[in-house]
Amino acid sequence: MSKAFGGFPALADVTLNLSSGRVHALMGENGAGKSTLIKLIAGVLKPDSISVTKDGSPLPLNDAQDAHKAGFRFIHQELNIVPQVSVAENILLGRDLPRRFGFAVDWNKVKTQAEEALAFLGATHVDVTLPAGDLPAGDKMMMKIAAALVSADQNEPVLYVLDEPTAALTGEESEMLFDVIERLKAKGTAILYVSHRIDEILRICDDITVLRDGEFVSKNEISKTSKVDIIQAMTGRDFKDAYPKREVPIGIDTIASLENVDTSNLQNLNFELRAGEILGVSGLAEAGQTQLLKLFMGLGKVKSGAASFLDEELPRSPSDAWARSVAYIPRERRGEALCLDMSVRANIVLPHLSDYGFYAKPWLENKDALEFGGKVQLKSSGSTQPVGQLSGGNQQKIVFARAIQGNPKLLLLDEPTRGVDIGAKYDIYLLVRELSANGCAVILTSTDLPEVLGMCDRVLVMQEGRQAHLLERGEMTSADLLSHFFNNNDAA
Ligand SMILES: Nc1ncnc2c1ncn2[C@@H]1O[C@H](COP(=O)(O)OP(=O)(O)OP(=O)(O)O)[C@@H](O)[C@H]1O
Ligand SMILES: [Mg+2]
Repeated sequence: MSKAFGGFPALADVTLNLSSGRVHALMGENGAGKSTLIKLIAGVLKPDSISVTKDGSPLPLNDAQDAHKAGFRFIHQELNIVPQVSVAENILLGRDLPRRFGFAVDWNKVKTQAEEALAFLGATHVDVTLPAGDLPAGDKMMMKIAAALVSADQNEPVLYVLDEPTAALTGEESEMLFDVIERLKAKGTAILYVSHRIDEILRICDDITVLRDGEFVSKNEISKTSKVDIIQAMTGRDFKDAYPKREVPIGIDTIASLENVDTSNLQNLNFELRAGEILGVSGLAEAGQTQLLKLFMGLGKVKSGAASFLDEELPRSPSDAWARSVAYIPRERRGEALCLDMSVRANIVLPHLSDYGFYAKPWLENKDALEFGGKVQLKSSGSTQPVGQLSGGNQQKIVFARAIQGNPKLLLLDEPTRGVDIGAKYDIYLLVRELSANGCAVILTSTDLPEVLGMCDRVLVMQEGRQAHLLERGEMTSADLLSHFFNNNDAA
């Protein structure tokens, strides 16, 4: 298959072979063409050329219906959900809903079918009558996986395609997904799997195809390759140290201090944050990590205790926070952080416009957009390209570029490297280290525990909205950290 966008090839004559009962990994850096390949076989993007065969005979693939008829099922990278309607309807979206006497929709059946699909995943806790938009990110992903699994139609699935499903899942939820993949594999379906987490790939996949800049690089059995080989194939370079070390000691100035603080949704917050310090926030899903970051964005109310930021009260609103040099990288880049129809340049410089004075200075904006885009190794066709056209990982880099442009004093990072490839991750870690060396304090939360341990000086563990532990990172392993998510014996 081949596909170019405006003369620029995103995929050049790439071949992929998938076998029943095997999990096939598709890997490559951000912008390598993985999602484009998937959209071609899903029939949602028009190819420049494609030829598909199944069991040796040619298969027509002109649109999404053809792909569905062939038994191909997709979970795309950016979840398309209808937030206002129920989880059950989202799961059965685009199918013939079960009906009574041939016309009235049988809502009881809709509900049962949706519940059955979720039960197959082990996600029985999800209430299918809730509006889908109200679900936490992990459950939204479970819902989309259930939608691909639902067996409400005649075309038996032969291939499941998952584009970075675990980027939005916690460790526990990922395990549930791996279990489902095992069961699908045992039923004889083929699986195409995209992820930037190499350890995960080595564990659950049988075969691997690597792309680089839209071109096929290599195909191999997982058992005959290694982490080092895969990274080499993806990047064309040798493996770098995963986390850059702290080189400048933590500063003396206190950036923030919380003493016995309770807020509308958090309790028992007790910590000081010093200039240059990187504080990790960890815990099970939804334990209050995001709320803690949002407290410093002025999105939370202190009810009791003493809280200060730069010797004054905490920011009262996001604009107050922004004015006082707090930068925030939210978890949901598409919903909370980006204007997808607008250009790369606008997305990077928009919140900084007041720094440019009264008149528009497009040349200066361009220069800055290029400079800060360059710092995060952004791959785009230029500063006027709409952000919606960038690959998932490159969209995340835009959010990062914008945050660092303001020289923040406090940087709040919620899953900063989600969907970002291994080389670009390293670049982002270097930038965080550089900001910290210049005195910027950082609060970071991530479901990637090695990332928390690799970057943070201390780790605050939350349990159900309470601060449960404040740990020195020391020689801690991921398993040690994980055990603190559950136990409660040493008070913080
Ligand atoms: N609609 C579009 N218009 C123009 N260019 C596009 C469009 N969609 C994708 N591209 C370009 O095609 C290239 C491949 O993008 P793709 O989304 O396939 O990457 P990817 O391998 O999935 O990356 P990631 O790991 O970041 O998700 C990128 O350079 C991207 O900017
Ligand atoms: Mg992608």
